[in-house]
Amino acid sequence: MKRFLLSLFILLQVLPAVADEGMWILPLLRHQKFPQMQELGLRLQDYDIYNPDSSSIKDAIVIFGGGCTGEIVSPDGLLLTNHHCGYGQIQKHSSVEHDYLTDGFWAMSKAEELPNPGLKVTFIDKIEDVTEYVLEELKKDTEPNSMNYLSPRYLNNLAKERVGEKFLSDHPGTEVEIKPFYGGNQYYMFTKKIYSDVRLVGAPPSSIGKFGADTDNWMWPRHTGDFAVFRVYADAYGNPAEYSENNVPLRPKRWLKISLAGVQENDFAMIMGFPGTTYKYYTSWEVAERRDINNRVRIDMRELRQQVMLEEMLKDSKVRIQYSSKYAGSTNAYKNAIGTNWAIDKRDFEQVKKAEQDKLTTWARLQNRPEYPEALRAMEEIIKGRSDLQFRLWMLNEGLLMGIEFSRVPYLLDPLMNALKEKDGNRIDQELESLQEKYKGFANKDYAPEVDKKVAKVLLQEYLRRVPAGHRPDYLEEIDKRFKGNADAFVEYLFANSIYGSEANFFRFITKPTVKALENDPMIRFAKSVQDERVKLTEALTEFNTGYADAHRTYVKGLLEMYGDEINFPDANFSLRLTYGQVKGYEPVDAVYYNCQTTLEGVMEKEDPANWEFVVPPRLKELYQQKDFGVYGMPDGKMPVNFCATTHTTGGNSGSPVLNRDGELIGINFDRNWEGVGGDIQYLPDYQRSIIVDIRYVLFIIDKFAGAGYLLEEMDIVR
Ligand code: ARG
Ligand code: GLU
Repeated sequence: MKRFLLSLFILLQVLPAVADEGMWILPLLRHQKFPQMQELGLRLQDYDIYNPDSSSIKDAIVIFGGGCTGEIVSPDGLLLTNHHCGYGQIQKHSSVEHDYLTDGFWAMSKAEELPNPGLKVTFIDKIEDVTEYVLEELKKDTEPNSMNYLSPRYLNNLAKERVGEKFLSDHPGTEVEIKPFYGGNQYYMFTKKIYSDVRLVGAPPSSIGKFGADTDNWMWPRHTGDFAVFRVYADAYGNPAEYSENNVPLRPKRWLKISLAGVQENDFAMIMGFPGTTYKYYTSWEVAERRDINNRVRIDMRELRQQVMLEEMLKDSKVRIQYSSKYAGSTNAYKNAIGTNWAIDKRDFEQVKKAEQDKLTTWARLQNRPEYPEALRAMEEIIKGRSDLQFRLWMLNEGLLMGIEFSRVPYLLDPLMNALKEKDGNRIDQELESLQEKYKGFANKDYAPEVDKKVAKVLLQEYLRRVPAGHRPDYLEEIDKRFKGNADAFVEYLFANSIYGSEANFFRFITKPTVKALENDPMIRFAKSVQDERVKLTEALTEFNTGYADAHRTYVKGLLEMYGDEINFPDANFSLRLTYGQVKGYEPVDAVYYNCQTTLEGVMEKEDPANWEFVVPPRLKELYQQKDFGVYGMPDGKMPVNFCATTHTTGGNSGSPVLNRDGELIGINFDRNWEGVGGDIQYLPDYQRSIIVDIRYVLFIIDKFAGAGYLLEEMDIVR
């Protein structure tokens, strides 16, 4: 009884979540969530958002590059996304003379727009339920441990067979893809149109687009103008084509209208985009594993590494520039892990998931479906059984492979060794040249050996403390054997004796290369040994993971059967989704309320000319002082910057359009609050918020700050 009451309590506690939780797939929207959306204020019909037979809002939403979302906002193919999504492109066009990262960039005509080889924009033309087709095909698969039901290679071949070669050759730039949903219980096929001439139109300076940088990352209240503008080009027929001067701006099927009306607390808001990965169907054992192994190791090891990096960065401005991007990359996932563990404990996700499992077990018993409790037992056994391997793999990845840069020195040198053994002069020269290139790639302008050395000493010491002898990469046994367990001495030895330890060492080797030097090289042996251990651990885990995938699929099938698919959305898988909710602030701690809207006042409050993260550009200050906000200011005379909403988003949703009840663009999603990152496992309605740049700030920066107001002329702006 106590148990029952506890589960009931937990169920009731998470019930309100249903209001805003979920990343819904468009073909199921009508039947799953549409009435609730209208209740919250939506004034559109379902076919305005998604219409399988005609154009709809979904046609304006694209994948930007490999992991972000973008939206089309003009009949001439103009596209909005985040500054941090276009960062790589902006960086590539930057040089000392044209530092677009620092100063921003604005093309003042189409001729000035900058091409970006390799950058692609993907439209989703068609979404079809192909579950029956895939399940039929899978029946032909007789291999017992086959993972085909989740294999992208296998599924995409099925997709190609289904549409036929001719369809694909008749439609240049078109690709088809089948993705598994609900752990492989449902399948959808996506017909995609991929454009590869995408040009940079404009970007604010980093002091706006990245304002607050790492300190403010994952934080609310926020004040970042995290947006960038691109344009999609096509050939004269509107088809995808590689970059060419003859290409013309794409005439899209659909572009978004933009609203200047702004947002009020509790307004309806929805976001469409491409969320990457979530873990809604974690069992309680996976929650514990994630908290106690994956996240714990990540937090601890990164903390050690970041401490050393930061100390060195503060001491020396050259190191600061060299390591700022590595530091940012490290802290992004680190902060996420901290927020996730906080949420796991705060609302006892273990117990929440366990209640779900118990409910299914009880239901399955009544329905006589023993396979569901069986799947749960299998998962418990697998998760517990793999814990040691899992811990070792995470320690290896976070502690050695990602943390220590020299664990990634070029170590596959057989061609050079063979050439040396055979004394083949030409080939030796060739191979040495290639090695020099690789060495330059490793010891590049952002590599500081002194920093790597300090980081390595700290991480290795911790690694040795936590991973017992006999469970480490073989070469690490040397530390006990030759250095009495002293990691510092071992690291000093590596740097003194490896060809990669210093430039001098490397050039000494190049002038007199020998097989022996390579065979005995301690950094090469270290790198090889760490890689071997990674392969060994990954292989050992494969067996567990195959069994896991199978049991997980069965478990999710049970949940769908018990609930019907109305209230359960499939985990994110980088397919097009819709999430809806309300513009809303929150109470992070007792007696503190965070408003849902930030303004330029906050930018000025945070200003710190001595800290690169919080520098405010003079032109923005000028506009602020003159209150020159044009049509973009709010009725109270302030200039809006960011707002937050209860929508359920995750990584991949960066750049996603935020739409009002009429389907008009009111903002661009770019981050989440750290209290909300646990939402990848379990949505927390009173804590989780999407962080959004207000579209009025975007237009204000383009128009008033950058003087590129001509771009607004091609947009559909509802005043
Ligand atoms: N936290 C956001 C995301 O997960 C933004 C990351 C980029 N910004 C940064 N300051 N590192 O992608
Ligand atoms: N910044 C993330 C991205 O690049 C979005 C934040 C989140 O995880 O919700 O997609």
